[in-house]
Amino acid sequence: MNLKKMVGIEAAKYIQNDMIVGLGTGSTAYYMVEEIGRRVREENLTIIGVTTSSKTTEQAKRLGIPLKSIDEVSHVDITIDGADEIDEKYNGIKGGGAALLFEKIVASYSNKIIWIVDESKMSRYLGSFPLPVEVIPYGSHQLLTLFEKKNLHPVLRIDSDGQPIKTDCHNFIIDLHLEKIEKPAELSAWLNQLPGVVEHGIFENMVSTIIIGSNDGLKTIQAR
Ligand code: 5RP
Repeated sequence: MNLKKMVGIEAAKYIQNDMIVGLGTGSTAYYMVEEIGRRVREENLTIIGVTTSSKTTEQAKRLGIPLKSIDEVSHVDITIDGADEIDEKYNGIKGGGAALLFEKIVASYSNKIIWIVDESKMSRYLGSFPLPVEVIPYGSHQLLTLFEKKNLHPVLRIDSDGQPIKTDCHNFIIDLHLEKIEKPAELSAWLNQLPGVVEHGIFENMVSTIIIGSNDGLKTIQAR
């Protein structure tokens, strides 16, 4: 059973005519975007999509989903996205696909946020998935040294050519291998005030609904 496809198709059912829809990024969100594309084509669903990465923009354009940027809409009705890890309080880590900045911006203006995951992403605490931090290249080595000194186990994310990966905004990603994040709010506040840090992957108190796929079927949680 393809769990990512299952949750992607389920989440697309939440979309109704005339909605402005945030379209997430990643291998799970991929199936949701494909299904919305199918509904646009076969059911004449009329929506405006707001994408969270160049990759999703490419896919949505190929499917004929009408798009606007976040600056061209007054709000977003629903955003559907994947997540890398979700804790017991329904806080999440995102950014495994390096799209955390646009994902957090679009999520911030969304009336409802749905995360689609398989059950392996559910965890007691955050931190077993390395926390992505998006940083501007200038000063990034200073940040690596600072994170090292603070025992945050930073690793600069590298592409297949051995070069630092570049986000859609031409920034770098530093992954913090923390194992367990005791106080996500404190870590989030500390990271947010560091010059050169653009965004990080802790998404606190944001998700409304989580759709979890397992071999036993689908489970939907109302988080808030
Ligand atoms: C991209 C993300 C993705 O939503 C997250 O990495 C989950 O991806 P996948 O569905 O491929 O496991 O945050 O920045």
